[in-house]
Amino acid sequence: MKKTVGFIGWRGMVGSVLLKRMLEENDFDKFNFIFFSTSQVGVKNPSLNKEISKGFLKDAYNLDELRELDIIITCQGSFYTNKIYSLLRFSGWMGYWIDAASDLRMKKSSLIVLDPINYKNIKKSLENGVKTFIGGNCTVSLMMLALGGLFRNDLIEWISFSTYQAASGGGSGYIMDLLKQISFLNKYLSKNLNLSTSILKIEKKITKITKNKNFPQRSSLAPLILNLIPWIDSKMQNGQSREEWKMEKETNKILSRKKSQEIKIDGTCVRVGSLRCHSQSFLIKLKKNIDLKSIEEVISHDNEWVSVVPNEKYESLHRLTPLSVSGTLKIPIGRLRKSSIGDKYLSAFSIGDQLLWGAAEPLRRVLRFLL
Ligand code: HSE
Repeated sequence: MKKTVGFIGWRGMVGSVLLKRMLEENDFDKFNFIFFSTSQVGVKNPSLNKEISKGFLKDAYNLDELRELDIIITCQGSFYTNKIYSLLRFSGWMGYWIDAASDLRMKKSSLIVLDPINYKNIKKSLENGVKTFIGGNCTVSLMMLALGGLFRNDLIEWISFSTYQAASGGGSGYIMDLLKQISFLNKYLSKNLNLSTSILKIEKKITKITKNKNFPQRSSLAPLILNLIPWIDSKMQNGQSREEWKMEKETNKILSRKKSQEIKIDGTCVRVGSLRCHSQSFLIKLKKNIDLKSIEEVISHDNEWVSVVPNEKYESLHRLTPLSVSGTLKIPIGRLRKSSIGDKYLSAFSIGDQLLWGAAEPLRRVLRFLL
């Protein structure tokens, strides 16, 4: 008999990307799906297939309805998880909870899912009765897919990183801000950009416009266009941002590392004006001196999505950019070279789609394991 899955938060950005992937992979034929809503109960279901389009949206806050489900998959966000998860569990519900929100990630009873990296652990957890599976932070998942071979072969002593994170990671409001900022600037540029104007004059005017108090920045709180924001999420006591803190903590949890064997990972997380791809620059201290060719082989053979981009200008400009990766499951890693700091130090740069491998895809794949 098919298992019954409740889908919550399917209209948001991550939910929509997940839904599209599930359609592409025919996931909707594999389970009975019930669509829930927090705001539009009773409205017609999305028309995804004959069966689904017959139904109507159920109330995502109705515990009796939720308790009937074998599996809940939610992209509704933290507010919903915090409101419903504990109530459901306390009421005795023993189904599988699959969640994109971060709140349950570090709980002992949940597993962070990224199956190309921790497939064995997912399998073992399912056998051991784990019922709560959470997608990792996007930056963490994308780093782990890119460096999977180095993690798997226990070659990493520590990692120092800088990220270049897309607007999408901040939510749809960030993307909207970015687009409005472009439009705002264009009002001036469309009239004043001509060859006879001094470029420094235009630069001065454009900079002034971005500092105008009316410059759109409702979600981003600072201009994203022509700028960057070196802070993502809240402040931790040690001075890291929460996004930076997650890199070490979640990675070691995904790798099931004991405290004494944790890999040290630290750096700076930065928001930039790309739309939906996160990029990351790494300086990696390896445990031993390995030649670059062997490193490239270890990296490229680890999973089917990662590929090594030759450390050449042309290849980097065309295959190692957010625009070349956007909307795909590709995880290119390039700029691979031994650092001038020493033989054990490796420089690398990688990219991944924040909404796909960074959010939706690990959830979709764990759902398939529950078949
Ligand atoms: N925290 C990430 C970001 C996205 O702000 O880019 C969610 O994983």
